[in-house]
Amino acid sequence: MNILILNGPNLNLLGTREPDTYGTTTLADLERDLESSFSDVTFTFAQHNGEGALIDQLHAARKQADGVVFNPGGYTHTSVALRDAVAAIDPPVVEVHLSNVHAREAFRRTSRIAPACIGQISGLGPTGYHLAVRYLARGEEGGD
Ligand code: DQA
Repeated sequence: MNILILNGPNLNLLGTREPDTYGTTTLADLERDLESSFSDVTFTFAQHNGEGALIDQLHAARKQADGVVFNPGGYTHTSVALRDAVAAIDPPVVEVHLSNVHAREAFRRTSRIAPACIGQISGLGPTGYHLAVRYLARGEEGGD
């Protein structure tokens, strides 16, 4: 089972970026925790600040991943192109947000990308990534 963990703009600054909203866990911590929690999963970790690089990474996942956990960051609320990229690929994509986007500014309540995803997890911090991986890997783990 190959899973792509794809993070969008500004998520490279996790740990120091608005810690009251996003916590103090760094992206490297989050990735290390996933790797140690799911020994049966082969992870690809990627983070890009640009929309084009995120689209290229999603296209590459067509052949390389059985599932994708995607935090599109601020592009969540704006990007038709990312939504189309998610719709264009076969592996299921779970949209994840560290913060509860529905409890913040009104513009964060709309995701252009979620309708093309299999589901969305929002507001559970790094645990959201773990739950998304657990869902995507359920066939192999025999759960859910
Ligand atoms: C975020 C929520 C987005 O609204 C914001 O632009 C981010 C992070 C989250 O993980 O909570 O960059 O995706």
